[in-house]
Amino acid sequence: MVAKMWYVEPAMRTALSALGGEAFKEIYGHFFSPRAIFTGRAGAMALSMLVTFMRERKKAFILTDTVVERHAKSVVEDLQEAGFQTMVWNEAAPEPPISLVKKCADAMTKFDPDLIVAVGGGSTIDLAKAAWILYELPGYDLKAVTPLIPLGLRKKALLAAYPTTSGTGSEVTWVSVLTDDSVTPPMKIEVSSAEIVPDFAVLVPEFTIGMSPKLTAGTGLDALAHSVDAYLTSYDTDICDALAIKSIELIFKFLPRAYRSPNDREARYRMQLAATIAGLAFGNSQAALTHSLGHAVGKVFGIHHGVAVSIFIPYSIQYYSKASDKYIQLAREIGIETRDKVQCLEKLVDRFKQFLLSFEIPYALKEHGITKERWEKDLAAVANYASEDPCTAASPRPTSIIDIKKMLDYAYEGKDINF
Ligand SMILES: [Fe+2]
Repeated sequence: MVAKMWYVEPAMRTALSALGGEAFKEIYGHFFSPRAIFTGRAGAMALSMLVTFMRERKKAFILTDTVVERHAKSVVEDLQEAGFQTMVWNEAAPEPPISLVKKCADAMTKFDPDLIVAVGGGSTIDLAKAAWILYELPGYDLKAVTPLIPLGLRKKALLAAYPTTSGTGSEVTWVSVLTDDSVTPPMKIEVSSAEIVPDFAVLVPEFTIGMSPKLTAGTGLDALAHSVDAYLTSYDTDICDALAIKSIELIFKFLPRAYRSPNDREARYRMQLAATIAGLAFGNSQAALTHSLGHAVGKVFGIHHGVAVSIFIPYSIQYYSKASDKYIQLAREIGIETRDKVQCLEKLVDRFKQFLLSFEIPYALKEHGITKERWEKDLAAVANYASEDPCTAASPRPTSIIDIKKMLDYAYEGKDINF
Protein backbone atom coordinates (compact mmCIF):
# COMPACT_ATOMS: atom_id res chain seq x y z
CA MET A 1 0.00 0.00 0.00
CA VAL A 2 1.23 3.50 -0.85
CA ALA A 3 1.99 5.60 2.23
CA LYS A 4 -0.08 8.78 2.08
CA MET A 5 1.46 12.19 2.58
CA TRP A 6 0.81 13.67 6.05
CA TYR A 7 -1.52 16.34 4.67
CA VAL A 8 -3.92 13.73 3.24
CA GLU A 9 -4.74 12.27 6.67
CA PRO A 10 -8.24 13.42 7.78
CA ALA A 11 -7.07 14.44 11.29
CA MET A 12 -4.30 16.57 9.81
CA ARG A 13 -6.71 18.18 7.35
CA THR A 14 -9.07 19.08 10.18
CA ALA A 15 -6.15 20.54 12.12
CA LEU A 16 -5.01 22.52 9.06
CA SER A 17 -8.48 24.00 8.61
CA ALA A 18 -8.68 24.88 12.30
CA LEU A 19 -5.27 26.61 12.20
CA GLY A 20 -6.70 29.10 9.72
CA GLY A 21 -9.43 30.14 12.15
CA GLU A 22 -9.62 33.70 13.49
CA ALA A 23 -9.19 32.61 17.11
CA PHE A 24 -5.92 30.86 16.34
CA LYS A 25 -4.40 33.90 14.63
CA GLU A 26 -4.07 35.77 17.91
CA ILE A 27 -2.04 33.06 19.55
CA TYR A 28 0.18 32.01 16.66
CA GLY A 29 1.54 33.66 13.55
CA HIS A 30 4.59 33.38 11.32
CA PHE A 31 6.29 35.05 8.41
CA PHE A 32 9.17 33.20 6.80
CA SER A 33 11.33 34.74 4.11
CA PRO A 34 14.87 34.60 2.76
CA ARG A 35 17.56 36.46 4.68
CA ALA A 36 17.94 38.80 1.73
CA ILE A 37 16.41 39.46 -1.67
CA PHE A 38 18.74 41.05 -4.20
CA THR A 39 17.58 42.63 -7.44
CA GLY A 40 19.32 43.52 -10.66
CA ARG A 41 22.73 42.75 -12.06
CA ALA A 42 24.52 44.75 -9.37
CA GLY A 43 22.43 42.94 -6.75
CA ALA A 44 23.65 39.60 -8.11
CA MET A 45 27.26 40.74 -7.80
CA ALA A 46 26.57 42.01 -4.29
CA LEU A 47 25.29 38.60 -3.25
CA SER A 48 28.50 36.91 -4.47
CA MET A 49 30.51 39.28 -2.34
CA LEU A 50 28.26 38.80 0.68
CA VAL A 51 28.46 35.00 0.60
CA THR A 52 32.24 35.20 0.33
CA PHE A 53 32.25 36.37 3.94
CA MET A 54 29.75 33.72 4.99
CA ARG A 55 31.33 30.60 3.49
CA GLU A 56 34.67 29.19 4.53
CA ARG A 57 35.31 26.55 1.89
CA LYS A 58 33.83 28.61 -0.96
CA LYS A 59 32.48 25.75 -3.06
CA ALA A 60 29.31 26.49 -5.04
CA PHE A 61 27.15 23.81 -6.69
CA ILE A 62 24.99 25.38 -9.39
CA LEU A 63 21.83 23.55 -10.51
CA THR A 64 20.26 24.49 -13.80
CA ASP A 65 18.86 22.95 -17.00
CA THR A 66 20.14 23.02 -20.54
CA VAL A 67 17.54 25.61 -21.63
CA VAL A 68 18.59 28.34 -19.17
CA GLU A 69 22.19 27.25 -18.62
CA ARG A 70 23.33 30.40 -20.43
CA HIS A 71 22.06 32.46 -17.49
CA ALA A 72 23.96 30.29 -15.03
CA LYS A 73 27.18 31.37 -16.75
CA SER A 74 27.00 34.90 -15.37
CA VAL A 75 26.26 33.51 -11.91
CA VAL A 76 29.31 31.25 -12.20
CA GLU A 77 31.47 34.21 -13.25
CA ASP A 78 30.32 36.30 -10.29
CA LEU A 79 31.01 33.46 -7.86
CA GLN A 80 34.40 32.67 -9.36
CA GLU A 81 35.38 36.32 -9.17
CA ALA A 82 34.42 36.24 -5.51
CA GLY A 83 36.80 33.30 -4.99
CA PHE A 84 34.40 30.36 -5.26
CA GLN A 85 35.19 27.03 -6.84
CA THR A 86 32.11 26.12 -8.92
CA MET A 87 30.41 23.07 -10.37
CA VAL A 88 27.48 23.33 -12.81
CA TRP A 89 24.93 20.47 -12.84
CA ASN A 90 22.53 20.99 -15.75
CA GLU A 91 20.16 18.03 -15.42
CA ALA A 92 17.20 19.78 -13.75
CA ALA A 93 13.81 18.76 -15.18
CA PRO A 94 10.15 19.80 -14.74
CA GLU A 95 8.18 18.34 -11.85
CA PRO A 96 11.36 16.71 -10.52
CA PRO A 97 11.00 13.01 -9.72
CA ILE A 98 12.46 11.80 -6.43
CA SER A 99 14.91 9.63 -8.40
CA LEU A 100 16.31 12.81 -9.98
CA VAL A 101 16.51 14.49 -6.57
CA LYS A 102 18.65 11.57 -5.37
CA LYS A 103 20.87 11.79 -8.45
CA CYS A 104 21.37 15.51 -7.87
CA ALA A 105 22.09 14.96 -4.16
CA ASP A 106 24.71 12.34 -5.09
CA ALA A 107 26.44 14.83 -7.38
CA MET A 108 26.30 17.40 -4.59
CA THR A 109 27.79 14.96 -2.11
CA LYS A 110 30.71 14.21 -4.43
CA PHE A 111 31.44 17.93 -4.89
CA ASP A 112 30.79 18.79 -1.22
CA PRO A 113 29.63 22.43 -1.64
CA ASP A 114 28.98 24.97 1.11
CA LEU A 115 26.72 26.98 -1.20
CA ILE A 116 23.95 25.59 -3.41
CA VAL A 117 22.68 27.82 -6.19
CA ALA A 118 19.56 27.19 -8.27
CA VAL A 119 19.27 29.01 -11.60
CA GLY A 120 15.98 28.15 -13.28
CA GLY A 121 12.21 28.03 -13.02
CA GLY A 122 10.23 26.81 -10.03
CA SER A 123 11.00 23.14 -10.72
CA THR A 124 14.75 23.73 -10.62
CA ILE A 125 14.47 25.65 -7.36
CA ASP A 126 12.20 22.92 -5.93
CA LEU A 127 14.73 20.30 -6.99
CA ALA A 128 17.51 22.26 -5.27
CA LYS A 129 15.51 22.46 -2.02
CA ALA A 130 14.87 18.70 -1.97
CA ALA A 131 18.40 17.71 -3.02
CA TRP A 132 19.73 20.03 -0.31
CA ILE A 133 17.76 18.03 2.29
CA LEU A 134 19.29 14.77 1.06
CA TYR A 135 22.76 16.34 0.87
CA GLU A 136 22.53 17.45 4.50
CA LEU A 137 20.66 14.35 5.67
CA PRO A 138 21.68 11.40 3.49
CA GLY A 139 18.95 8.76 3.15
CA TYR A 140 16.18 10.97 4.63
CA ASP A 141 12.69 10.02 3.47
CA LEU A 142 11.45 13.13 1.65
CA LYS A 143 7.86 12.00 2.12
CA ALA A 144 8.37 12.16 5.89
CA VAL A 145 9.28 15.87 5.83
CA THR A 146 6.64 17.97 7.59
CA PRO A 147 6.63 21.57 8.85
CA LEU A 148 6.48 20.17 12.38
CA ILE A 149 9.71 18.14 12.36
CA PRO A 150 13.00 20.08 12.50
CA LEU A 151 15.53 19.04 9.86
CA GLY A 152 18.59 20.96 11.07
CA LEU A 153 19.65 22.14 7.61
CA ARG A 154 22.50 24.62 6.93
CA LYS A 155 25.19 22.58 8.69
CA LYS A 156 26.74 21.96 5.27
CA ALA A 157 25.40 24.60 2.88
CA LEU A 158 23.22 27.64 2.24
CA LEU A 159 20.82 27.97 -0.69
CA ALA A 160 20.53 30.85 -3.17
CA ALA A 161 17.80 30.92 -5.85
CA TYR A 162 17.88 32.85 -9.14
CA PRO A 163 14.45 32.45 -10.81
CA THR A 164 14.34 32.54 -14.61
CA THR A 165 10.53 32.70 -14.78
CA SER A 166 8.21 35.08 -12.94
CA GLY A 167 5.47 33.08 -11.31
CA THR A 168 6.06 30.23 -8.90
CA GLY A 169 7.61 32.28 -6.10
CA SER A 170 9.64 29.20 -5.17
CA GLU A 171 12.64 31.46 -4.54
CA VAL A 172 10.95 32.59 -1.32
CA THR A 173 8.61 29.76 -0.32
CA TRP A 174 8.98 26.76 1.96
CA VAL A 175 7.52 24.18 -0.40
CA SER A 176 9.13 21.84 -2.92
CA VAL A 177 6.76 20.18 -5.39
CA LEU A 178 8.12 16.83 -6.50
CA THR A 179 6.94 13.70 -8.29
CA ASP A 180 7.01 10.45 -6.36
CA ASP A 181 8.09 8.12 -9.16
CA SER A 182 8.33 5.12 -6.86
CA VAL A 183 4.57 4.58 -7.27
CA THR A 184 2.41 3.82 -10.31
CA PRO A 185 1.13 6.16 -11.60
CA PRO A 186 3.70 8.70 -10.36
CA MET A 187 2.20 11.10 -7.84
CA LYS A 188 2.77 14.81 -7.21
CA ILE A 189 3.84 15.47 -3.61
CA GLU A 190 4.53 18.63 -1.65
CA VAL A 191 7.51 18.63 0.66
CA SER A 192 7.17 21.53 3.08
CA SER A 193 9.42 22.84 5.81
CA ALA A 194 10.23 26.38 6.86
CA GLU A 195 13.88 25.36 6.71
CA ILE A 196 13.86 25.04 2.93
CA VAL A 197 13.09 28.71 2.32
CA PRO A 198 16.18 29.74 0.32
CA ASP A 199 18.65 31.93 2.20
CA PHE A 200 18.88 34.32 -0.72
CA ALA A 201 16.68 35.16 -3.69
CA VAL A 202 18.27 37.03 -6.57
CA LEU A 203 16.05 38.67 -9.19
CA VAL A 204 17.90 39.44 -12.41
CA PRO A 205 15.38 40.73 -14.99
CA GLU A 206 17.67 39.78 -17.88
CA PHE A 207 17.12 36.12 -16.96
CA THR A 208 13.44 36.39 -17.88
CA ILE A 209 13.75 38.55 -20.99
CA GLY A 210 12.72 36.65 -24.09
CA MET A 211 10.35 34.24 -22.30
CA SER A 212 7.60 33.35 -24.79
CA PRO A 213 4.28 35.23 -24.47
CA LYS A 214 2.56 31.94 -23.58
CA LEU A 215 4.96 31.13 -20.74
CA THR A 216 4.93 34.78 -19.64
CA ALA A 217 1.13 34.70 -19.32
CA GLY A 218 1.01 31.25 -17.69
CA THR A 219 3.63 32.04 -15.05
CA GLY A 220 2.37 35.58 -14.43
CA LEU A 221 -1.19 34.35 -13.93
CA ASP A 222 0.12 31.72 -11.50
CA ALA A 223 1.48 34.62 -9.42
CA LEU A 224 -1.91 36.36 -9.68
CA ALA A 225 -3.66 33.24 -8.35
CA HIS A 226 -1.13 33.11 -5.49
CA SER A 227 -1.93 36.68 -4.53
CA VAL A 228 -5.70 36.44 -4.82
CA ASP A 229 -5.72 33.32 -2.67
CA ALA A 230 -3.18 34.78 -0.23
CA TYR A 231 -5.55 37.71 0.28
CA LEU A 232 -8.75 35.69 0.61
CA THR A 233 -7.55 32.50 2.34
CA SER A 234 -8.48 31.71 5.92
CA TYR A 235 -4.77 32.03 6.82
CA ASP A 236 -4.63 35.69 5.72
CA THR A 237 -2.62 38.14 7.80
CA ASP A 238 -2.11 41.89 7.54
CA ILE A 239 1.49 41.35 6.39
CA CYS A 240 0.41 39.00 3.59
CA ASP A 241 -2.53 41.23 2.64
CA ALA A 242 -0.20 44.16 1.98
CA LEU A 243 2.06 41.99 -0.15
CA ALA A 244 -0.80 40.37 -2.06
CA ILE A 245 -2.33 43.71 -3.01
CA LYS A 246 0.98 45.14 -4.23
CA SER A 247 1.58 42.06 -6.29
CA ILE A 248 -1.90 42.15 -7.87
CA GLU A 249 -1.38 45.83 -8.73
CA LEU A 250 1.95 45.05 -10.42
CA ILE A 251 0.55 42.10 -12.34
CA PHE A 252 -2.44 44.03 -13.68
CA LYS A 253 -0.10 46.77 -14.82
CA PHE A 254 2.94 44.92 -16.10
CA LEU A 255 1.89 41.44 -17.21
CA PRO A 256 0.13 42.75 -20.34
CA ARG A 257 3.31 44.68 -21.22
CA ALA A 258 5.63 41.71 -20.65
CA TYR A 259 3.21 39.55 -22.69
CA ARG A 260 3.11 41.93 -25.64
CA SER A 261 6.78 42.97 -25.56
CA PRO A 262 9.04 40.16 -24.35
CA ASN A 263 12.05 42.50 -24.25
CA ASP A 264 10.42 45.21 -22.13
CA ARG A 265 12.97 45.28 -19.32
CA GLU A 266 10.91 47.31 -16.88
CA ALA A 267 7.91 45.01 -17.33
CA ARG A 268 10.15 41.97 -16.75
CA TYR A 269 11.68 43.54 -13.65
CA ARG A 270 8.29 44.45 -12.18
CA MET A 271 6.90 40.99 -12.95
CA GLN A 272 9.85 39.38 -11.17
CA LEU A 273 9.09 41.53 -8.16
CA ALA A 274 5.37 40.76 -8.42
CA ALA A 275 5.98 37.01 -8.48
CA THR A 276 8.39 37.14 -5.54
CA ILE A 277 6.06 39.37 -3.53
CA ALA A 278 3.19 36.98 -4.32
CA GLY A 279 5.45 34.13 -3.20
CA LEU A 280 6.05 35.83 0.15
CA ALA A 281 2.30 36.37 0.50
CA PHE A 282 0.99 32.92 -0.36
CA GLY A 283 4.06 31.20 1.09
CA ASN A 284 2.94 32.49 4.47
CA SER A 285 -0.84 32.63 4.16
CA GLN A 286 -1.29 29.67 1.78
CA ALA A 287 -2.92 29.20 -1.59
CA ALA A 288 -6.43 27.74 -1.47
CA LEU A 289 -8.98 26.59 -4.03
CA THR A 290 -7.42 28.20 -7.10
CA HIS A 291 -4.56 25.83 -6.51
CA SER A 292 -6.26 22.65 -5.31
CA LEU A 293 -8.75 22.74 -8.20
CA GLY A 294 -6.10 23.92 -10.65
CA HIS A 295 -3.65 21.22 -9.54
CA ALA A 296 -6.27 18.51 -10.08
CA VAL A 297 -7.37 19.75 -13.50
CA GLY A 298 -3.77 20.35 -14.58
CA LYS A 299 -2.78 16.86 -13.52
CA VAL A 300 -5.60 15.00 -15.29
CA PHE A 301 -5.85 17.10 -18.46
CA GLY A 302 -2.24 18.25 -18.80
CA ILE A 303 -3.00 21.99 -18.59
CA HIS A 304 -0.11 24.32 -17.65
CA HIS A 305 -0.05 25.01 -13.90
CA GLY A 306 -0.43 28.79 -14.18
CA VAL A 307 -3.25 28.55 -16.70
CA ALA A 308 -5.08 25.88 -14.72
CA VAL A 309 -4.95 27.75 -11.41
CA SER A 310 -5.81 31.14 -12.88
CA ILE A 311 -8.98 29.75 -14.50
CA PHE A 312 -10.25 29.12 -10.97
CA ILE A 313 -9.71 32.69 -9.72
CA PRO A 314 -13.23 33.90 -10.70
CA TYR A 315 -14.94 30.74 -9.45
CA SER A 316 -13.03 30.72 -6.15
CA ILE A 317 -13.89 34.36 -5.45
CA GLN A 318 -17.58 33.58 -6.05
CA TYR A 319 -17.42 30.50 -3.83
CA TYR A 320 -15.58 32.29 -1.00
CA SER A 321 -18.03 35.22 -1.16
CA LYS A 322 -20.73 33.14 0.51
CA ALA A 323 -18.58 32.82 3.64
CA SER A 324 -16.58 36.04 3.78
CA ASP A 325 -16.99 39.66 2.65
CA LYS A 326 -13.28 40.15 2.15
CA TYR A 327 -13.78 40.20 -1.62
CA ILE A 328 -15.28 43.69 -1.12
CA GLN A 329 -11.92 44.90 0.22
CA LEU A 330 -10.15 43.26 -2.69
CA ALA A 331 -12.50 44.99 -5.13
CA ARG A 332 -11.86 48.37 -3.48
CA GLU A 333 -8.11 47.82 -3.58
CA ILE A 334 -8.22 47.35 -7.33
CA GLY A 335 -10.41 50.38 -7.90
CA ILE A 336 -13.92 48.91 -8.00
CA GLU A 337 -16.20 51.31 -6.14
CA THR A 338 -19.78 50.30 -5.50
CA ARG A 339 -21.92 50.02 -2.39
CA ASP A 340 -23.95 47.17 -3.82
CA LYS A 341 -22.48 43.82 -2.79
CA VAL A 342 -23.91 41.88 -5.72
CA GLN A 343 -22.61 44.41 -8.22
CA CYS A 344 -19.26 44.50 -6.46
CA LEU A 345 -18.84 40.74 -6.80
CA GLU A 346 -19.93 40.80 -10.42
CA LYS A 347 -17.49 43.56 -11.30
CA LEU A 348 -14.63 41.93 -9.42
CA VAL A 349 -15.17 38.55 -11.05
CA ASP A 350 -15.54 40.18 -14.44
CA ARG A 351 -12.24 42.04 -13.99
CA PHE A 352 -10.43 38.72 -13.55
CA LYS A 353 -12.33 37.02 -16.38
CA GLN A 354 -11.48 39.84 -18.79
CA PHE A 355 -7.85 39.75 -17.65
CA LEU A 356 -7.65 36.03 -18.47
CA LEU A 357 -9.30 36.59 -21.85
CA SER A 358 -6.76 39.31 -22.68
CA PHE A 359 -4.14 36.53 -22.73
CA GLU A 360 -6.42 34.31 -24.83
CA ILE A 361 -7.16 32.09 -21.86
CA PRO A 362 -10.87 31.11 -21.79
CA TYR A 363 -12.26 30.72 -18.28
CA ALA A 364 -14.53 27.83 -19.32
CA LEU A 365 -12.63 24.55 -19.06
CA LYS A 366 -14.52 23.06 -21.99
CA GLU A 367 -12.71 25.56 -24.21
CA HIS A 368 -9.37 23.99 -23.27
CA GLY A 369 -9.84 20.95 -25.47
CA ILE A 370 -11.58 18.76 -22.88
CA THR A 371 -14.47 16.85 -24.44
CA LYS A 372 -17.71 16.31 -22.52
CA GLU A 373 -17.16 12.52 -22.54
CA ARG A 374 -13.67 12.83 -21.12
CA TRP A 375 -14.88 15.35 -18.53
CA GLU A 376 -17.68 13.09 -17.33
CA LYS A 377 -15.36 10.09 -17.19
CA ASP A 378 -12.66 11.88 -15.16
CA LEU A 379 -14.70 14.28 -13.01
CA ALA A 380 -14.80 12.01 -9.95
CA ALA A 381 -11.03 11.50 -10.03
CA VAL A 382 -10.40 15.26 -10.48
CA ALA A 383 -12.69 16.06 -7.54
CA ASN A 384 -10.94 13.49 -5.42
CA TYR A 385 -7.47 14.89 -6.19
CA ALA A 386 -8.72 18.41 -5.41
CA SER A 387 -10.27 17.37 -2.15
CA GLU A 388 -7.05 15.67 -0.96
CA ASP A 389 -4.87 18.60 -2.01
CA PRO A 390 -3.33 20.45 0.97
CA CYS A 391 -4.50 23.82 -0.45
CA THR A 392 -8.16 22.87 0.03
CA ALA A 393 -7.74 23.15 3.80
CA ALA A 394 -6.95 26.88 3.42
CA SER A 395 -10.30 27.72 1.82
CA PRO A 396 -12.07 30.44 3.81
CA ARG A 397 -15.28 28.50 3.18
CA PRO A 398 -15.34 24.88 4.34
CA THR A 399 -15.68 22.60 1.34
CA SER A 400 -17.11 19.19 0.66
CA ILE A 401 -16.56 16.75 -2.17
CA ILE A 402 -20.07 17.65 -3.39
CA ASP A 403 -19.21 21.35 -3.58
CA ILE A 404 -15.87 20.62 -5.22
CA LYS A 405 -17.53 18.49 -7.91
CA LYS A 406 -20.12 21.18 -8.47
CA MET A 407 -17.49 23.91 -8.73
CA LEU A 408 -15.57 21.85 -11.25
CA ASP A 409 -18.71 21.28 -13.31
CA TYR A 410 -19.57 24.99 -13.29
CA ALA A 411 -15.99 25.82 -14.30
CA TYR A 412 -16.22 23.32 -17.15
CA GLU A 413 -19.26 25.13 -18.52
CA GLY A 414 -17.99 28.62 -17.60
CA LYS A 415 -21.01 29.23 -15.34
CA ASP A 416 -21.01 31.60 -12.38
CA ILE A 417 -20.87 29.88 -8.99
CA ASN A 418 -24.21 30.74 -7.35
CA PHE A 419 -24.29 28.22 -4.51
FE1 LIG B 1 1.16 28.20 -8.28
